[in-house]
Formats: sequence, C-alpha cells, structure tokens
Amino acid sequence: MIRKDEKVVFNLDGKTIEADPGTTILQAADAAGVYIPRLCYMDGIEAFGGCRLCTVTVNGRPAAACTQPCAPDTVVQSDTEELNAQRRMVLEMLFVEGNHFCMACEKSGNCELQAQAYRLGLDAARFDFLEPQRPVDASHPDVMIDHNRCIQCHRCVRASRDVDGKAIFGFVGRGGEKHVGISGSDRLS
Ligand code: FES
Repeated sequence: MIRKDEKVVFNLDGKTIEADPGTTILQAADAAGVYIPRLCYMDGIEAFGGCRLCTVTVNGRPAAACTQPCAPDTVVQSDTEELNAQRRMVLEMLFVEGNHFCMACEKSGNCELQAQAYRLGLDAARFDFLEPQRPVDASHPDVMIDHNRCIQCHRCVRASRDVDGKAIFGFVGRGGEKHVGISGSDRLS
C-alpha cells in the first residue's frame, strides 16, 4: 500500500523515475523529460489506450503507457529496438490504411502522424496502400471532416464529450466502415 504523499519509484529505460501515486507511466515519463511516442493521448483529456503507439513493457509485459499507472519497483522499457519496430508497424498500417498525401497536405510539418514517422525512422511502408475511396464530409454547416486523414484517435470525440460536454462527434459504422460523424449531420443520425 502506497501512502498518498509517498512517491512511486520505478525504472524507465535505465533511469530512476519518481512519480505521484496514480500517475500513468506516460505522465511520469513526460515529467521526467523522457519521451514515449504517442498518438491518441492528449494532455487534458482522458486517455483511452487506442493507438498502442505508447506500448512499453512493464517487467517484460506489454502495457499502454498512457493508461498504465506506474507501480513501485517495476522495470519499464520503452526505447528498445523491438518496441520501436512495433511502433513503426503501427504507423505503417495507419499510413497505408488512409490517404495521407504529406507532400500536398497543409498540415505537413505540423502533423503528429508525420512527426512520429520521422522520429521512428519510417521512410517507406512495406504494405500495399489500400487507397480507400473516402468522401470529405461537409454535410455540417460549421465542421468539415476529411476522412482520408483521420486516424480515429478519438481525440475529437473525447474532447467534445468530456471537456466541452457537447458530444459533437461520435463514431458511426463498424469495422472498416467505422468513421467519425458530426452530430446534426446525416452521417451521425
Ligand atoms: Fe497510448 Fe495511444 S498514446 S494508446
């Protein structure tokens, strides 16, 4: 049992980290200046562990760093060749599953997906590009969604629901048809 005022001490990639009880591994790493790759996590909204880019091992077992609370005396590994290879695989699948035209995208240079690809040394995908046909959803008067670029990180859904309390966005469909819809548009109704 850890007292509320007691620090949780654990090891992350060889570095001793001290964190408040209840802090996730990713939050503790950020506070200690150790970067763990992430995509669906965003400071200020509840983490849900969807993209798995932040996967680390805790005493040898995989866990999402954004949802896993740090535990005393554990050995956490993040920056290993095996974990980074798995992260590249996740990124490759995201790139081939959507239509990410970085060279022609206005977000190029200010895109977290692109930044993670650079960070992890992903310069080409091994898989065939699926090149799905996805229309831009401009059915709502105030919001437009380009489903070609959406990686379904749930951030818009969580921020709208949990921070604004408005639930403007939601998911529609299942499997490969799943996509973000806008409340009030014909796609979400
Ligand atoms: Fe942890 Fe996406 S950042 S699962």
